[in-house]
Amino acid sequence: MLRRLHPEQPESFAFTPANLAWAEGQVTKYPDGRQASAIIPLLWRAQEQEGWLTRPAIEYVADMLGMAYIRALEVASFYFMFQLQPTGSVAHVQVCGTTTCMICGAEDLIAVCKDKISPKAHGISADGKLSWEEVECLGSCSNAPMAQIGKDYYEDLTAESFGKLLDDIVAGKVPVPGPQNGRYGSEALGGPTNLTEYVEGRPEHNASVALAVEIGDTIKRIDGTEVPLLTPWLKDGSEVKTKAKPRTDKAAETKPTQQSAPEPAPGTEAVGSKPEMLEGPRDGAADDLKMIKGVGPKLEELLNAMGVYHFDQIAGWSEAEIAWVDENLEGFKGRVTRDEWVSQAKTLAAGGETDFAKRAKDEGMYDDED
Ligand code: FES
Repeated sequence: MLRRLHPEQPESFAFTPANLAWAEGQVTKYPDGRQASAIIPLLWRAQEQEGWLTRPAIEYVADMLGMAYIRALEVASFYFMFQLQPTGSVAHVQVCGTTTCMICGAEDLIAVCKDKISPKAHGISADGKLSWEEVECLGSCSNAPMAQIGKDYYEDLTAESFGKLLDDIVAGKVPVPGPQNGRYGSEALGGPTNLTEYVEGRPEHNASVALAVEIGDTIKRIDGTEVPLLTPWLKDGSEVKTKAKPRTDKAAETKPTQQSAPEPAPGTEAVGSKPEMLEGPRDGAADDLKMIKGVGPKLEELLNAMGVYHFDQIAGWSEAEIAWVDENLEGFKGRVTRDEWVSQAKTLAAGGETDFAKRAKDEGMYDDED
């Protein structure tokens, strides 16, 4: 199946404050320079928040982790658990179509989806509440055919029980997950053949179903408010508090303005020294910083917002100043050193041309790493 970004995308994305605090906590699990390892949980949380994974969400997460957008997009488009198109507002239904379920009636369930939701997989029902897809084995083969809706499994389904299940969900009811034919768990269809002494007096539901019933909302998306994220890997093991203000839609649309250096965190030393910045480009004409390999439109915008407009500014940075800029390029830390901006800027400031700048001019391209 071809997995690509949906043609219609929202303008922007921002984590809710609760999700942002959670995401920042996840990032602290990894050592410096390895923040990209948090990509899957952060993309997943973005999908939980919106119902599907939008391009602005992928780019937002990439920015948080200092990754090139294409790297985050590679992850999002590789894993089928990421929905790259809008899903139903109430639930996305995943019907197992693999061998056991297929033999036991998955095609009947898919026919119900086509009838009640949309004739094609990944389509959305007319009321916008449900969407569906066929998925590979969900590991519940002994209770085939089955479907996952929200976080829970609905097993031992028939076309009739499945249709009623979907009707109930659309009507706002909370069906009890697990086997839908009276089975307790995955015992033989005719009843348990061993450990029969445990049948009498057992709880009403098996453990998974009991937990779902206790939570009481099987299709609720995770929104960051469930359980505070504790961080035993940090010294105090405390609950993570968000450091950054969540980017609002408005903020995302607003062009960045002159940024001041962030305050160092309490107990930490400021890194390097801040180079002299400009209020604006000299004579109103900024250099095209994208001629520096490693600087794309986003980074150029960020540099301008910090007060960097000209090649000669970058060319004159000392080691301490490079360290400061590297540390303060939010989302792009370490790029000055990694891509050797200063030596490139020296050539460009002197009126020369680097191989990259020549190619960029000839081909009208720029380095889109950011
Ligand atoms: S084949 Fe459907 S859960 Fe395994």
